Amino acid sequence: VYIKELRGTNLLEERLKNYLGVEVHVVPSGLNQNLGREELGRFAADFLKGLITSGDIIAVTGGTTLSEVAEMMTPASEGCQVTTVPARGGLGEGVEIQANTIAAKIANKLGGDYNLLHTPDNLKQETISTLIKEPSIKKVLDLAKRADILIHGIGTAEVMARRRGMPLDKIEELKTQGAVGETFGYYFTQSGEIVYSTTSVGLKLSDLTKIRQVVAIAGGRSKAKAIVAAVSEKYQDILIIDEEAAKGILELI
Ligand code: F6P
Repeated sequence: VYIKELRGTNLLEERLKNYLGVEVHVVPSGLNQNLGREELGRFAADFLKGLITSGDIIAVTGGTTLSEVAEMMTPASEGCQVTTVPARGGLGEGVEIQANTIAAKIANKLGGDYNLLHTPDNLKQETISTLIKEPSIKKVLDLAKRADILIHGIGTAEVMARRRGMPLDKIEELKTQGAVGETFGYYFTQSGEIVYSTTSVGLKLSDLTKIRQVVAIAGGRSKAKAIVAAVSEKYQDILIIDEEAAKGILELI
């Protein structure tokens, strides 16, 4: 607390909370970018451990930030029997940063069970309608919908569209429509309007309102616009960011 007050982080968190409408935690970035990423992961992992109670269902998304959170999570001293579940299907990203991998890692560290979702996103709507009736997939989706806690990343629209191999003309279209942020396969404009969403067998944005604690985690100044675009009190309860992202957001407000 002393260090936070000394650095003025508490005031910063309060300002961001008033602006974004959600509880905000700012993690000091430090001088080295890689160490900063680790610190964000470590803080978020510890914070989550404090939030989780035995028996909770935890839904997770993919991404390098969430992967770092899973990496930094320290094993629970007494197994706390959580159930982890990917919030959405695979989005064509590397296996290390897929939600399945992150769900498995967190469950193994905390001492619970994990579930995997073996479906890609971006399928035809009719294929999705058939898939969600499959008992093995339905079981995982039902769990995700009953999640007590959801942890998810936020990315900039262009980086995410490219990472998922979106065709160039579609990326240009997204840019023209003003998309700046992405989370959950939804692309948002600066004022929070959704201009595009990928089809998915997983959770929809509207499902988030039923989850006890929705925690968004993101770092880096380049994500400031994306964070403002994607975060709202309607969907998230808590936002964990690094100091760089916080400074970037302050420049926008
Ligand atoms: O693809 C999953 C996802 O959580 C996206 O919704 C989000 O935009 C992205 O990963 C964040 O990735 P990173 O943490 O690598 O920036």
